[in-house]
Amino acid sequence: MNAITEVKTDINAQIIEAFNSRHATKIFDPERKVSDTDFETILEAARLSPTSFGNEPFRILMIQSPDKRELFREFSWGANGMMNGSTGQLGTASHFGIILAATGELMRAGSDYLQDHYRQVKQLPEEVIEIFNGAYGKFQAEDHKITSDREITDWSGKQAYIVLANMMTTGALMGIDSCPIEGFDMERTTQTLAEHFGVDTAKWKPAVMFAFGHRAKDPEFPKTRRTMQDTVAWF
Ligand SMILES: Cc1cc2nc3c(=O)[nH]c(=O)nc-3n(C[C@H](O)[C@H](O)[C@H](O)COP(=O)(O)O)c2cc1C
Repeated sequence: MNAITEVKTDINAQIIEAFNSRHATKIFDPERKVSDTDFETILEAARLSPTSFGNEPFRILMIQSPDKRELFREFSWGANGMMNGSTGQLGTASHFGIILAATGELMRAGSDYLQDHYRQVKQLPEEVIEIFNGAYGKFQAEDHKITSDREITDWSGKQAYIVLANMMTTGALMGIDSCPIEGFDMERTTQTLAEHFGVDTAKWKPAVMFAFGHRAKDPEFPKTRRTMQDTVAWF
């Protein structure tokens, strides 16, 4: 083995080790916080994530104040410890947040928001923006038939899940635990975001929640997955 192959083999092993040790953490050690530097890296992985057409149809809301977190407890069964008699991810996570998905108002082809995004963020020249509008319009209307507000918001939510996956993998590679969370009442979460967080829910809807920290204890059961053969087909 030459030096490059050795380094590569080492990286492969580190990646698989990170994926094996990552588990959906239900109870974090409330005394062990994730450092600002490490969490900035996790957020940077989120920010740099790929999105369809580069539209970045997501935002991240960090909820660190215990009082603010409590607003979600009653209707967030996936984060409130009801399965294990603890204060759950809401009560114990070092970092807790919600990824918001952009609705049709922002993500419909040709929207003012997207024109701004193409100009200000992507710095595209006007003629390329025209091409983008046409291609994205066809994608929505014909290719994927994503036309209702619900369909567009769900499409934004798909992008949000890629962001979340990248955040969790980044955490796992740094030895930081996490939990993806969709065990919450969508309507009441939306209402809470509007009432207490100033979110314009005509434009942004909750997609998924997340918690980061360090596990209070190792999982009770070993990780189970289908075999590679049952997971992947090659042609
Ligand atoms: C999108 C998504 C939503 C999830 N929602 C919750 C949740 O609300 N609460 C929870 O404790 N776990 C939640 N999980 C964790 C899964 O139950 C867990 O990933 C799965 O059982 C596999 O276990 P592992 O991640 O520990 O390997 C969620 C996972 C995903 C990917």
